[in-house]
Amino acid sequence: MKILITGGAGFIGSHVVRLFVNKYPNYLIHNLDKLTYAGNLANLSDIENKSNYTFIKGDIVDGDFINNLFEKENYNAVIHLAAESHVDRSIANPIEFVMTNVIGTVNLLNAAKTHLTKANSAFKKFYHVSTDEVYGTLGDTGMFTEKTSYDPHSPYSASKAGSDHFVRAYYDTYKLPVVISNCSNNYGPNHFPEKLIPLCIYNIKNKRQLPIYGKGENVRDWLYVEDHAKAIDVIFHNAAIGQTYNIGGHNEWKNIDVIKLLCKIMDEKLGRENGTNEKLITFVKDRAGHDLRYAIDASKLKTDLAWLPSVTFEQGLEKTVDWYLKNEDWLNNVTSGNYLKYYEEQYTNR
Ligand code: NAD
Ligand code: DAU
Repeated sequence: MKILITGGAGFIGSHVVRLFVNKYPNYLIHNLDKLTYAGNLANLSDIENKSNYTFIKGDIVDGDFINNLFEKENYNAVIHLAAESHVDRSIANPIEFVMTNVIGTVNLLNAAKTHLTKANSAFKKFYHVSTDEVYGTLGDTGMFTEKTSYDPHSPYSASKAGSDHFVRAYYDTYKLPVVISNCSNNYGPNHFPEKLIPLCIYNIKNKRQLPIYGKGENVRDWLYVEDHAKAIDVIFHNAAIGQTYNIGGHNEWKNIDVIKLLCKIMDEKLGRENGTNEKLITFVKDRAGHDLRYAIDASKLKTDLAWLPSVTFEQGLEKTVDWYLKNEDWLNNVTSGNYLKYYEEQYTNR
């Protein structure tokens, strides 16, 4: 089996690539990534010399490049993770999100469709990795199921919703064999420090302020990234064509409570007096169009494919903090150059 994984140098993609390369030595894994600010080959340094792994630098927005790649490689499957992934950046620059998330996805679908019709085609599956943000926001109760209507609010979630619709359209119109999953918020190693948890780990370490949007009352459903990668493995191998699965941790937390727990863990790890890090919490202007609450009903995945998260939030957060404290070089590298300047311009003075 020769699989094209897109976005494999990013946060979730790197865990998916590592899992597939190590667990399936007979598969050939091609990792296609543009290496944007979020892509980092250091995320895969432990597997880069494995004989079943190949890295390809390229842009999914370049349709000719994608068509030629499919023509040359005769892939059996695609697992598509490449995307612009940060909501705040999408508010500042929506076009880039339309280009990569919509046009890039359609380029891949088109190449797979063309490839499927060839006599020598061995193409079996196009797996599109998506987000729970396509469903919009919940009030105090209820959960997103696979039947919840799409109601995206940010340019990021609108672009992901658009890509999901194109994937389903290629299934309905051209019989392209597709599978989709929509996952809740991930956290863990290799997460770029612009997202809430790794940003606050970086800021606590450096005694910088912890910017909490609004009152910190927004709720997210957190899942340890390796559990997401395992769910992708299970869905890729076992889901029927045309199916959608929600993936989530049954793990809802208000942002302020996440950060208080993180502060406590890091007080202990850094040998600071209990309560020291909490003093860094700073309430800042809210995100425009900020969704109040996400919660995933993942019972279909549990019932059909026997997947459950393996790590509690407390365990996962502690493992995550340990990884960031141990991998100082990684953190210094991704926060070198323009990181702080860009961060301050884009977010702090919104
Ligand atoms: P990320 O931003 O960490 O990584 C994205 C990767 O895609 C990077 O390596 C980047 O270089 C690459 N990329 C971006 N534009 C590209 C292009 N034009 N061509 C080729 N490669 C390109 O993102 P992530 O958090 O790992 O998310 C991966 C996927 O999972 C995305 O599709 C995202 O929508 C989805 N998702 C993320 C979460 C989450 O909590 N992070 C939750 C649910 C779903
Ligand atoms: O739900 C899945 C989605 O989760 C993914 O599709 C996205 O790619 C991923 O980025 C994530 O989106 P969020 O917007 O939920 O993640 P983020 O870490 O940016 O924010 C989490 C919550 O914390 C959200 O309510 C906004 C808030 N926040 C975020 C940042 C960066 C803050 O209060 N302060 C911050 O500095």
